Amino acid sequence: MSERKIIIFDTTLRDGEQSPGASLNTEEKLVIAKQLEVLGVDVIEAGFAAASPGDLDAISKVAQEVKKPVIASLARAVKGDIEAAAKALENAERKRIHTFIATSPIHVEKKLKMSYDAVIDAAVDAVKLARNYAEDVEFSAEDATRSDWDYLCKIFEKVIDAGASTINVPDTVGYTTPQEYYDLIAYLMNNIPNIDKAVVSVHCHNDLGMAVANSLSAVLAGANQVECTINGLGERAGNAALEEISMALKTRADFYKGCKTGINTQEIYRASRLVSKLTGIRVQRNKAIVGKNAFAHEAGIHQDGVIKEKRTYEIMKPEDIGIDTNKLVLGKHSGKHGLEERLRELGYNLSKEQIGVIFEEFKKLADKKKEIYDEDLRALIEDQFKLTPQVYELVSLQVVAGNAASPTATMKLVKNGEEFEDAALGDGPVDATFKALERITYVKGKLMNYDIQALTEGKDAVGEVSVKVYFADLDKAILGRGTSTDVIEASAKAYLDAINKALMLM
Ligand code: KIV
Ligand code: ZN
Repeated sequence: MSERKIIIFDTTLRDGEQSPGASLNTEEKLVIAKQLEVLGVDVIEAGFAAASPGDLDAISKVAQEVKKPVIASLARAVKGDIEAAAKALENAERKRIHTFIATSPIHVEKKLKMSYDAVIDAAVDAVKLARNYAEDVEFSAEDATRSDWDYLCKIFEKVIDAGASTINVPDTVGYTTPQEYYDLIAYLMNNIPNIDKAVVSVHCHNDLGMAVANSLSAVLAGANQVECTINGLGERAGNAALEEISMALKTRADFYKGCKTGINTQEIYRASRLVSKLTGIRVQRNKAIVGKNAFAHEAGIHQDGVIKEKRTYEIMKPEDIGIDTNKLVLGKHSGKHGLEERLRELGYNLSKEQIGVIFEEFKKLADKKKEIYDEDLRALIEDQFKLTPQVYELVSLQVVAGNAASPTATMKLVKNGEEFEDAALGDGPVDATFKALERITYVKGKLMNYDIQALTEGKDAVGEVSVKVYFADLDKAILGRGTSTDVIEASAKAYLDAINKALMLM
């Protein structure tokens, strides 16, 4: 059986970022792109350059700093979009322009209001123009799964002739089924005369919960590229999840004979956590592969089986996706050396100075909390080394609350070495804390979302708060995060994080 390389095209930074509520700034996109590179994806779709100057800038930074994968930008089949994509990709070592136009009757007639021939002409012109800037051009027929199959054959044949090296068959609205999609891909493979000159790609949305099944079915029919996202993020119900696609191909290598991805699966868990953290979109507990429960066995009969022989109820090992089960729990008596060693094992390459800072924080945490888990260490690091420069930093916070007192928060912040102190009353301790922050910083926001989660087990767990705050001056909602064993302090840090990010944009 010959080997088939399945190209993993990650669109977390483009379609994933179109998830309601998931917006990322340039630094955050860059951090994710670097992790995608380590994960081993073949193509990173870094954004939609024409969408905004911010998007263009983010693609350009990714193109400048991430060299292993091909970097792609999306572009409608119009001149301006393609030129914006080309500009964003100027510094990429390996670049791809991904252009698209819709092909289904409802899109062509009601949205584009174009003739079918005009759509083909626009697609061909777009591919030809894109080829002036990049050797590697992908063409997508938006809403392909609700398009006429012979019309698809015609448009794909023409764009391949015009120079497209990848043709993508998106299930834009998550409408197709595994068998139907298999038949469509097989039909295209058999009826496009020049199909041997292009890679067939699939891009599935999850509206009916079949994005992964549809993508894998297409692979069986001959598709060699799968477009997917970390944690299945994406427009509406999301896209096919990268971790599910790659683990299905690996775990069922017996069934998907010869299909291989370049994914280093041991980096999956890290990528999932990073994306969840930076987008503020939590992974559901029972999510396949990366959910908290994915490797947990609750029923006694299952636990008994797993103790006797893991494979009774486990088809994958947590280690396969980078979850370390031999967790070394650190505590008050652990030394700097032990901490340094554990941080290295967790993949952090910190300088001596940074380790010193983390060790100080580690000791403070160990005074409050008996056992320190990996999650706690990650939170410490993320709390200390922020991606956005911190204009204000929290020095102290004192809150009075309870059912017999008016909630009051008194706090001290520092900015450029100067201390600022103020107090505020609120409906509750969190509200009072947020109001005090606004009084000191003179930045007013509207809280759109507040989310809290314990990072580890037990009453002394570190709490992680994420907030989404709308700033009218910027007409923008910004995400903030903070962690602490004290949930009010974590809330203050999260709100201040959002304010600091807003200040950088003002
Ligand atoms: O879902 C879709 O059709 C897309 C295309 C632009 C590829 O995201
Ligand atoms: Zn899509």
